[in-house]
Amino acid sequence: MPASRRGSGSVTLPSGQTLAIHTRTQDEEDLPHATKKTMADHLRKYESLFTLTPQRMRMITEAFSETLDLGLKKPDQTVPMIPTYVFGWPTGDELGDYLALDLGGTNLRVCLVSLQGSGKFEITQTKYRLTEEQKQDDGEKLFDFCAECLQTFILTNMGSVSEPGEERKENEAVPEALLKPGQELPLGFTFSYPCDQERIDHGKLIRWTKGFGALRTEGRDVADMFRKSIEKINLPVKLTALINDTTGTLIASHYVNPRTKIAVIFGTGCNAAYMDRVGDIEKINHLGIDPDAEMVINCEWGAFDSFHHEHLPRTKYDQVVDETSNKPEEQAFEKLISGRYLGEILRLVICELIDEGVLFLGQNTYKLEKPYCFDTAFLSLMESDPTDELLMVIGIFTHFFALETTLAERQFFRALARLVGRRAARLSSCGIAAIVSKMGYLEEGCSVGADGSLYNKYPGFADRVHEGLVDIFGDKGRNIVTHHAEDGSGVGSAIIAAMTKKRKDAGTYAHV
Ligand code: BGC
Repeated sequence: MPASRRGSGSVTLPSGQTLAIHTRTQDEEDLPHATKKTMADHLRKYESLFTLTPQRMRMITEAFSETLDLGLKKPDQTVPMIPTYVFGWPTGDELGDYLALDLGGTNLRVCLVSLQGSGKFEITQTKYRLTEEQKQDDGEKLFDFCAECLQTFILTNMGSVSEPGEERKENEAVPEALLKPGQELPLGFTFSYPCDQERIDHGKLIRWTKGFGALRTEGRDVADMFRKSIEKINLPVKLTALINDTTGTLIASHYVNPRTKIAVIFGTGCNAAYMDRVGDIEKINHLGIDPDAEMVINCEWGAFDSFHHEHLPRTKYDQVVDETSNKPEEQAFEKLISGRYLGEILRLVICELIDEGVLFLGQNTYKLEKPYCFDTAFLSLMESDPTDELLMVIGIFTHFFALETTLAERQFFRALARLVGRRAARLSSCGIAAIVSKMGYLEEGCSVGADGSLYNKYPGFADRVHEGLVDIFGDKGRNIVTHHAEDGSGVGSAIIAAMTKKRKDAGTYAHV
């Protein structure tokens, strides 16, 4: 047996939570030669499984670009390239008060946005937690809950009722007597799941993603379902636009930074939107819209390479993630990239090494056996651990899994996190590169508005995306720069509601 020493201490997470830690220190020299070799061999194996060469990235980008084109030509493609009926860029002078309801992957958020012109706005918002049951229960109940939250928000912020103890922050929009009798407030509904749209205030849910599975909803018009829930409780609200979070992000980012041409979300799910020429969206040519008009396309690129699995480098861990998900075969690209899955991929690798007798010999590992118990935030924390001893990694394993680790094991876990996180970022570059190539943005360059927990919180994610773009395009890849986007689901949704009202009042393509 190698010599091992035990110690204890504590480590503080970014959330402020303090974790008690117990260490098992083993000097490298103490490890038997065979163990050292095995760990190193394993790491090499995972390196070759999770590393993407520039050449492979260029091949993926090319296939991706062709897939995007196909989605614009024909309806019902795997990557559906959804026309959103959001025409052109905002002027920055959109005005007025708008409600936005954002049903994302984790929370439900209601916002009141006051657009003040010249790219300025104020926002008042409240978040409501969604339970796992609500995500799987009947769809009608989910929309009834959304309507109830909207009602609470309106009563609290726009009527005479205020919730006890609730404080308003400085700079928040506090409209007085905003609604006259009989007046309805326009609402943008940010619904971040793939929906086929025939017009802006309509959308048939193609499929749930991100672990949602509410019954009797797929295949139905979710705007209509939500409208019914609003009518049931007589809210003075008119749902004017159904919006994807990427579409909102594109418009909101352009509102403050007009160099923005693409928007991406790397969060619980992943997706992108960009602006295209209507004449190039062949599948809607029959609608009689001016071919030179511009329209936002919601790519729904998370579905790239689903079903046939021809282009992406899927490991056996990715296959298990897929097969055990509530939507096997779907969202193949998203399952390699998004925050919902990265922790699970890493957990499966660790479990394999436990089964092979390489890790945690003699310790009880049952806590690691529960699917999805290894949060993607742990990968961020492990990668950003600044200590030589890797105290954060110690804290995670002792506190959440009651497991003691050696320094060699901790270094191995951190190296694994780096592989999984880096692969996600480099695949994300392929998606961005596909849009850039397709639209010919490389020479002139463009800004990409990016949002989502991975982009915002995972250390080095943006740098790795930028590195990936240089690997794909060479030096010119530096012309494509991502930046933290404006709040697309709230502010973007409000701007779109304002743009839509103006367009419809002017009678421009009023049928969509
Ligand atoms: C959804 C997209 C959404 C993305 C980011 C994906 O799972 O299909 O509609 O834009 O997540 O939230």
